Amino acid sequence: MPKINVLDKHVSELIAAGEVVERPASAAKELLENTIDSGATAVTIEIKHGGVTFMRVTDNGCGITREDVPRAFLRHATSKVCSQDDLAKISTLGFRGEALASIAAVSHVELLTRTRDELAGTHYVIAGGEEIACDDAGCAEGTTFVMRDIFYNTPARMKFLKKDVTEGNAVAGITDHEALAHPEISFRFLRDGREALHTPGDGKLKDAIFAVYGREFTQALLPVRYELNGVKVWGFISKPVASRANRSMQNFFLNGRYVKSRTAMVALEEAYKGCLMVGKFPACVLHIKVNFASVDVNVHPNKMEVRFMNEKPVFEAVYHAVKTALQQEDAPSLLKLKEAQPMRKPASFHVPAVMPEQIMLQKTPPAVHDSAAFEQNVVSNDSKIPVKQNTFQNEIPNSESEKTSLKNSECKAENFTENSPQAPAPNSASQVSDTEVSAPYVQQNEADASLKLVGEAFDTYIIVEQGNEELRFIDKHAAHERMLYEKLRAQSGNIPQQMLLSPVTVTLSKDEYSAVLQSLDLLAQAGYAVEDFGDGTVLVRGVPVMLQENIEGAVEEIAGYLAENRTSLMTEKLDWLYHNIACRAAVKAGDTSTQMELAQLVIRMEKEDIRYCPHGRPVSIVLRRKDLEHQFGRI
Ligand SMILES: Nc1ncnc2c1ncn2[C@@H]1O[C@H](COP(=O)(O)OP(=O)(O)O)[C@@H](O)[C@H]1O
Ligand SMILES: [Mg+2]
Repeated sequence: MPKINVLDKHVSELIAAGEVVERPASAAKELLENTIDSGATAVTIEIKHGGVTFMRVTDNGCGITREDVPRAFLRHATSKVCSQDDLAKISTLGFRGEALASIAAVSHVELLTRTRDELAGTHYVIAGGEEIACDDAGCAEGTTFVMRDIFYNTPARMKFLKKDVTEGNAVAGITDHEALAHPEISFRFLRDGREALHTPGDGKLKDAIFAVYGREFTQALLPVRYELNGVKVWGFISKPVASRANRSMQNFFLNGRYVKSRTAMVALEEAYKGCLMVGKFPACVLHIKVNFASVDVNVHPNKMEVRFMNEKPVFEAVYHAVKTALQQEDAPSLLKLKEAQPMRKPASFHVPAVMPEQIMLQKTPPAVHDSAAFEQNVVSNDSKIPVKQNTFQNEIPNSESEKTSLKNSECKAENFTENSPQAPAPNSASQVSDTEVSAPYVQQNEADASLKLVGEAFDTYIIVEQGNEELRFIDKHAAHERMLYEKLRAQSGNIPQQMLLSPVTVTLSKDEYSAVLQSLDLLAQAGYAVEDFGDGTVLVRGVPVMLQENIEGAVEEIAGYLAENRTSLMTEKLDWLYHNIACRAAVKAGDTSTQMELAQLVIRMEKEDIRYCPHGRPVSIVLRRKDLEHQFGRI
């Protein structure tokens, strides 16, 4: 066994430096954080060759006194922590006192700094951890830190650096995060002489986001502001229609520090569930503020990982903050009209014998903040399902009040026969509203609340007049599919089943057959009673009540899915099954529906606040009267 040596200071410095400074971007992070801690309001970072040969960070912060300058470069020298107690409530970004020592150990450093009270500034030069010069300098209040030739004395590290552009991009990413974390500071980033970022520093997060991500991203944001159990959450989230292909634009800031937090990420995505297309991810710039004592940032030298004393309040605050913003702020997208075109003469013009009737509906205002109340409202325990033979046989009244409301609308329908030329009296509409508005809802301005069914286009899009200012087009399949999907989720594990009078046999490929046999329990959970019938065939004895037709097709499709997704999680598979049942059971585009059925659908849609189909496509779009009138040249 070789003899044990105590490493000399130089070698141990290099080893320790490696933990903090891995690449130019990690030096940039430390230097920018120092400027923030110094109280600066304007910061410039400038790099050449990806920061490998040159990085200069200038701030107008408090500066470092002459006496303190050499000390700042000692390991574990910090002005931010004095005692063990301080470690339990860190409010600054730095606290380990390692960054300057580490950077100076692996590069050539030059520092210019002056505090407000000093007449002369300090010019300090240090390389490879050795002081080279310390003298007077005339300079502005604040600090300029120059780092040259990173890893010049550690060739092994140098070899691991990537191309300049990759290193430069990493520095840009760090600068973006700091700029989003501190909109009150103006950040300027110069890359090989070109300005790549300049935030105004006006304290407005949206302005910082605009500077970092541009116009298109900023236009598709919803504001978030929420507080729950002492956890504050604010910032912006992307509209579901503007979601992204990956998570790279999910930014979380904890007490002003950019962090990677799985808890926050899961809470965010959970809140978007059902609003996003498959394979899409939300984007966000969300600030979270918790008590400094309830979080440990001293987990890793790069301080990007944090440990919460208790994850639950953070999860809940983020979840409810996002859910509330989505419920309140995410209005249907506007239908944009192009320049008016001269109308082509239609080949034939069909005049219905009876003009479409108009049915007055009462719009239910959006749900209040509490998403638990929202969930509860959607949840139903009603397992006695009346099976009616019409297109909407699956419309299951899910509460007493709803039964009444549907009955009311049915009454209206009776008053309102095909031959009746009159619209129903407005008071019948308010009867509906009385039963519709239940506890979890807030009352809204009467004038905006009325909905009038105008009719249906292409047997697909329900057209509703909303108040006096908007026309809403609703995709009836998408809306109905979402309702059924929510119902299935609410009934999870207890999906009402209908036994078939004559069981159906389905022949499958070998792969599908074995996948189905492995998943009989899962199928039972989704309401299917399936048995092995031998020889690649299964026997379907029961199906979810919702599913009325093409049982063979449904089972074949399920078998195909199960064979291809053997390794998926059970919950994922069950969710897919719910989607599948809902999609099959929902009214189809092109199906004929009565006015009453359409009215019922709209009532339920309002009541359940349905905005997206289970695949994340929007359920309705809005055409503003203003835009229409503009096209007609009325305004
Ligand atoms: N830009 C700056 N402006 C003012 N003081 C600074 C600046 N950069 C570093 N310092 C001082 O140098 C000390 C050491 O910095 P650093 O090694 O990054 O450790 P830490 O930030 O963890 O305290 C800081 O505590 C601070 O007092
Ligand atoms: Mg620091």
